[in-house]
Amino acid sequence: MKPLSEKHQQIAPSLTLSINAKAKALKAEGKDVLSFASGEPDMNTPRHIREKAIERINIGGNGYTAAKGLPELRQVIARKFKADNELDYDPEDIIVSSGAKHSLYNAMQAIVNPGDEIIQIAPYWVSYPELIKMAGATPVTLMTSSESGFLPDEDALEGLIGGNTKAIIINSPNNPTGVVYPEATLRMIGDLAHKHDLYIISDEIYEKLIYEGTHHSIAALDERFKRRTITINGMSKAYAMTGWRIGYAAAFKPVSTIMNAIQSHATSNPNTIAQYASIEGLTGEMEPIETMRRTFDKRRHIMMEGFDAIQGMEYAAPTGAFYLMADISAFIGRTINGKTINSTLDMGEILLDECLIAVVPGEAFGSPSTIRLSYATDEATIREGLSRLQAFAREHL
Ligand SMILES: Cc1ncc(COP(=O)(O)O)c(C=O)c1O
Repeated sequence: MKPLSEKHQQIAPSLTLSINAKAKALKAEGKDVLSFASGEPDMNTPRHIREKAIERINIGGNGYTAAKGLPELRQVIARKFKADNELDYDPEDIIVSSGAKHSLYNAMQAIVNPGDEIIQIAPYWVSYPELIKMAGATPVTLMTSSESGFLPDEDALEGLIGGNTKAIIINSPNNPTGVVYPEATLRMIGDLAHKHDLYIISDEIYEKLIYEGTHHSIAALDERFKRRTITINGMSKAYAMTGWRIGYAAAFKPVSTIMNAIQSHATSNPNTIAQYASIEGLTGEMEPIETMRRTFDKRRHIMMEGFDAIQGMEYAAPTGAFYLMADISAFIGRTINGKTINSTLDMGEILLDECLIAVVPGEAFGSPSTIRLSYATDEATIREGLSRLQAFAREHL
């Protein structure tokens, strides 16, 4: 047989699969497993959005649209950028895709050549390194720590920039840390990108899930930044529409033109019904969205109070998204019931075995001493999970 794609053989399967598979198996045995591993809102899509989709199915929404999305939707998105982010984008430079992940994929494919490097900031979203590799580039990781609030350090960042660096990818509000980048951090990144002529990919998918501080789009801070930024957002998180698969990107020419061309041959338009539903989401009543945000904020407080009482699991207060990242280095090297914790994967397994709690090990995010807990789950689960973790830490530390 002829050799398979070398590039794609480097793509790592999800690190979290084994823990998820084990959690499911335990659940199937009737065990009371609590999952803190979810990456999506646990609420239904707001009714007015669902109803718009049903209406559209009935009046006929079964055809293709323009590959980059319905003109009406791109206009609505352009108005959203203006109103929410002080960003002026021509609807022609907006590409609607099958989820923000697809937008990120298109963006990488549009800017990368073999040998290029893209800087990602750890803890990073699990798909960034693989998306970078799939485009033929090499991920270069800038580490951050909970002591610095998971914010990038200017000297460390500049130290990673070399002749092959093509772009930097940023994500605020951040998955997995929940951190919202202050304006000064974004300006620092934008200035470095300008100085070294780098593209910026700004993943703003959690924009609407902010509890403290303000969201800034890096492209809005300076025209010099906007010229080099691909801004990515979508419907999944704020509108509880993960399964509808609508994300979007706004860029400058010719990047937007190339992204459109890639998409037109790879997938054509994203789902037509979901596009109409997204118009409703972006223009209809916002109360359900705000209600979801307040629900997450309440859970966030319960999480932080709970973790304040857990010995040996420090965290940086999350101010956005729906995740809390806890440092578990105090447990590394300990042996619990015959099993030594050498990694966060081991920690994940032990928490599942000992407390019936599923978390995502930090290794998935390039963060070797942390675990991520999602609070996109109900309050009763959160409270019970926290008390199991408190008991675990009391017993084993
Ligand atoms: C940081 C980040 N970016 C992008 C995505 C992808 O979102 P979508 O469902 O729109 O593809 C996710 C989903 O988990 C995410 O956490």
